[in-house]
Amino acid sequence: MSLLPSILAKREGRALDETQIRAFVTGVTDGSLPDYQISAFLMTIFFRGMDRGETVMLTRAVAESGAVLDWSDLDRPTADKHSTGGVGDKLSLVVAPLAAVLGVAVPMLSGRGLGFTGGTLDKLEAIPGLRTRLDHAAFRRQVSALGCAFVGQSEDLAPADRRLYALRDVTGTIESTPLIVSSILGKKLAAGPRSLVIDLKVGRGAFMPDLAAAKALGRALRETAAAFDRPCSVIFSAMDAPLGRAVGNGPEVAEALAVLAGRGPAGVRDLSVELAAEMLRLAGASSDREAARAAAAAALDDGRALARFGEVVDAQGGRLGEPAAGWGLPAPAHRRAVTAAAAGHLPAPDAGRVGWLAVELGAGRRMAEDGVDPTAGIVFRRDWGERVAAGEELAVVEGCDAARVERAAEGLARILAPRPEPEPAPPLVLARLDEHGFRLGPV
Ligand code: URA
Repeated sequence: MSLLPSILAKREGRALDETQIRAFVTGVTDGSLPDYQISAFLMTIFFRGMDRGETVMLTRAVAESGAVLDWSDLDRPTADKHSTGGVGDKLSLVVAPLAAVLGVAVPMLSGRGLGFTGGTLDKLEAIPGLRTRLDHAAFRRQVSALGCAFVGQSEDLAPADRRLYALRDVTGTIESTPLIVSSILGKKLAAGPRSLVIDLKVGRGAFMPDLAAAKALGRALRETAAAFDRPCSVIFSAMDAPLGRAVGNGPEVAEALAVLAGRGPAGVRDLSVELAAEMLRLAGASSDREAARAAAAAALDDGRALARFGEVVDAQGGRLGEPAAGWGLPAPAHRRAVTAAAAGHLPAPDAGRVGWLAVELGAGRRMAEDGVDPTAGIVFRRDWGERVAAGEELAVVEGCDAARVERAAEGLARILAPRPEPEPAPPLVLARLDEHGFRLGPV
């Protein structure tokens, strides 16, 4: 079936029917549609949008483009957490084992970095030996035994999204509500968790620059999830500056491990606790948000979450070492300190600019087929707004390519130029959307 009539219909702003949408997704999955027609169609959707019915149909078609997993025979409720993408966002590594030790099974389908945002799969693969390709039987065994497994999108889980995602990345069609909704929920419906907590990032380092746009996306996600009878909560979190102090795959794994060990930056810990608590509440493992937060904090402090993460890593073939030996993560060949040119207050760095610096450094991909350097990244030494003295070390830039490290350090020095006054830091949780509606503030 030719895609041209659908492209023309959408170009003129007409709604598509189920047959047209199915035919599109089938052609994407079986390879019969060429990239140029898919790209043109994505662009018409980007400009013309889709109504709620079309978005549900596209989501269903993406979910059903491959296998759909069913966890109803598991002895625990299932839930997942999904981030719309940010810089320094290592939360999945903390939240999945944390929810798992508290009685919620997390079959986590993760993605790779997209644009300047990092991806959980790339981070996990910084751990020597760790496999993120598990067949369905192994995925099921591990989720039953440990309550948590991290997998990448295999050939047969929402395969349509793999191709669409890659094309969107290079055709300027990422920031489209129906395309984001069908991409996120299509994958999640295929992986099969009952409920879903979305961490919707808002700010300079996110696909959604402001809360109004994010709110519209949050509502579309919740409404579309409801059409599939999936409870879904959205937590809107700030992504103006990188989350935590580490950006880049290996450095972020180290920071996630510190948080799992009850330490690490407060922002990463607090948001992890918030998301895990919401997963417990939504999955019915806790009826009280405060009690769920306290349980999550305790599981970080007493080592249970860290132990579970270690078991998950073992089960997936990874090898972690001692904390004192950098957890056995690969060491960067080059390091360069960035120091303060003058005394002042450390500005909150623009997460988007830092994200692109990390990509240039090798932590992300400029082209879809690029590999990533697991050691590449930036580790900040101080918190945003803190008073710093001239010459003080503000950050360290790391990686395996000396020239790239040098260039990124120069770029970072400009971004981190101290300011005379501290900037006010916004709260990390900006708003939430759940069965009680949309509420501003860190409720
Ligand atoms: N994350 C996804 O999985 N898909 C998108 O389109 C955006 C963020």
